[in-house]
Amino acid sequence: PGGHTADLVVFGGTGDLSMRKLIPALYHCDRDGRLSPETRVIAMSRGGLTDADFRGKVDAEVRDQVPVDDPAMWQRFLGRLHHVSVDVGGTDESGWNAVSALLAGHESRDRVFYLASPPRTFGPFCRELAEAGLVTPRSRVVLEKPLGHDLPSARRINDEVGAIFDERQIFRIDHYLGKETVQNLLVLRFANAFLEPIWNSLWIDHVQITAAETVGTPGRRGYYDHAGALRDMVQNHLLQLLTLTAMEPPARNDREAIRDEKVKVLQALRPITGTEVDRFTVRGQYTEAGDMPGYLDEPASTAPTEASRRVETFTAIRAEVRNWRWAGVPFYLRTGKRMPYRRSEIVVQFKDVPHSIFPGGTPNRLVLRLQPEEGIELHIMAKEPGAGEVTPKPVPLSLSFGETFTARVPEAYERLLTDVLAGNPTLFMRRDEVEAAWRWIDPILDAWKDDPTLPEPYQAGTTGPAGAHELLGRSGRAWHEEEK
Ligand code: BG6
Repeated sequence: PGGHTADLVVFGGTGDLSMRKLIPALYHCDRDGRLSPETRVIAMSRGGLTDADFRGKVDAEVRDQVPVDDPAMWQRFLGRLHHVSVDVGGTDESGWNAVSALLAGHESRDRVFYLASPPRTFGPFCRELAEAGLVTPRSRVVLEKPLGHDLPSARRINDEVGAIFDERQIFRIDHYLGKETVQNLLVLRFANAFLEPIWNSLWIDHVQITAAETVGTPGRRGYYDHAGALRDMVQNHLLQLLTLTAMEPPARNDREAIRDEKVKVLQALRPITGTEVDRFTVRGQYTEAGDMPGYLDEPASTAPTEASRRVETFTAIRAEVRNWRWAGVPFYLRTGKRMPYRRSEIVVQFKDVPHSIFPGGTPNRLVLRLQPEEGIELHIMAKEPGAGEVTPKPVPLSLSFGETFTARVPEAYERLLTDVLAGNPTLFMRRDEVEAAWRWIDPILDAWKDDPTLPEPYQAGTTGPAGAHELLGRSGRAWHEEEK
C-alpha cells in the first residue's frame, strides 16, 4: 500500500501548523493506507527535542484530534516521526549533519522538504539544503503561504527557491485548493452539460465569494498587523476561488492545462488603481462588542502600533474579469474576522427571467458552500401548494455531501499531502499564478498605504462595515445573508 516511500522533512515541524494540520493529516493518510510502510517524517525546529520527546509531544497534542481505533497503528505512526534540532542561518552545523545522516543511503526515495516557516526563511533554507548536498533529482519543496508580502518580495522568493529547485519540483500551498467543494467546482462545471451554456454574462448577474470567520486574531498581532485580510485571505484563497469559478473549460484534466486557464483569469482581472480603489474596495476593522475585544485590544505580546490601527480585518472588493465570457459581471469578494458566522461560499446569482407571467419571484442562485458543511444549493422558483393565486416561492434544491456520501470528508491537508507525495502539482500554485495575483493586489495595497483614513470600524459579531453593504447596494444588489 501507499505508493512511493518518501522522506518528508518539515521545517517548523513543531509549530502550530504542523501540530494542528500536517501531523493529523499524515496520520489520516497512514490510517487510510496511503503512506508506504517505510515513509518517514522528519521534523526540524530550533526546539532541541529528541525523537522520543517529539513523539511524546505528538502523542500528547495530536492523539485527541484524530480517531485512534487501533493503538498499535498509532504507535507505528509515532515510529515514523523523527526530530532534528537545527540552527538555521547560524554557524552550528550539527543539525544539518544529523539530517544528512538520516537521509544518507536513501537517495532513491522521494524527498519532500516542507517549509512551514516564515517566507523570509524559504531562500536561505533552500540554499542550506543545496549546500548540505540534500537536494536529489527526486526532491520536491513545499512552500506554505504567505508567499511574500507584495510582488517584488514574491518574485525574490521565487527566484531564490528557483535557483535550487526546478519549477516542477516546487509546490506552493493554498490550502483552499485542497477543500472538497473547491475540487467539486471543477466537476460540477465540467462534468455536467447544463451549466456551461449559461455560465456567462448573458445569464449571470454577479458572483459573490465570501470567507467569513468568527475567530478574531488573539495572539497573532505580530503577523496580522503586517498582513491584513487582503494579503492573508484575498491574494490567495479568494482569488483561487474566483479563478476556478471564472476559468474556461480546460482541454484536459491535467496539471498545466488547468493552471494555464487559471492564470488567464488572473491576467484578465481589471486592475483597480488610484481613485478607483476607494470606489471598489472597502476596509474594516472590528471593534469591541460584549465580551469580544476589538482588534486593538486582542491579547498580544506587544502594544498596538500605528500599523495595528491601520490594518484591515475585513475587506470587500468589487472585481471584474475582462473577457468575452464575463464582461460587465461583478465578482464581489469579501472576507473578515469576527463575523457572526463561519461560512465560506461562492454564490452565483443569475439574472431575472426576461419576462415574468407571475407576480413576485426572485432570480435563481447557485450556492457552493465550502464550510461549515460542504454542499451545493440551487435556489429555484416553485409553486407553493394551494388553490389560491399562483405565486412563485424560492426553494433550494440541496446537495449535502455529508448526507449524500458516506465517506468521511477529508481535511484539505490530507488531499494536498497525498498529492505532494504522489508528485501531482495540479492543486498547487504555479509561479506565474502567484505573481499574477500579486500584480492585481499591489496597486490596492499601495493606495491603502497612502490613504490617511483608517479602516471603517465594525462591531465584532456583525457582517462588516456599512461600506461593504453600499458596495453592492449602490447597484441595487445585496450580500447573500440567508442564515443556515
Ligand atoms: C489561513 C489564514 O490561510 O486561512 C487564517 O492565514 C485563516 O487567517 C485561515 O483563519 C482560514 O482557513 P479555513 O480553512 O479555516 O477557512
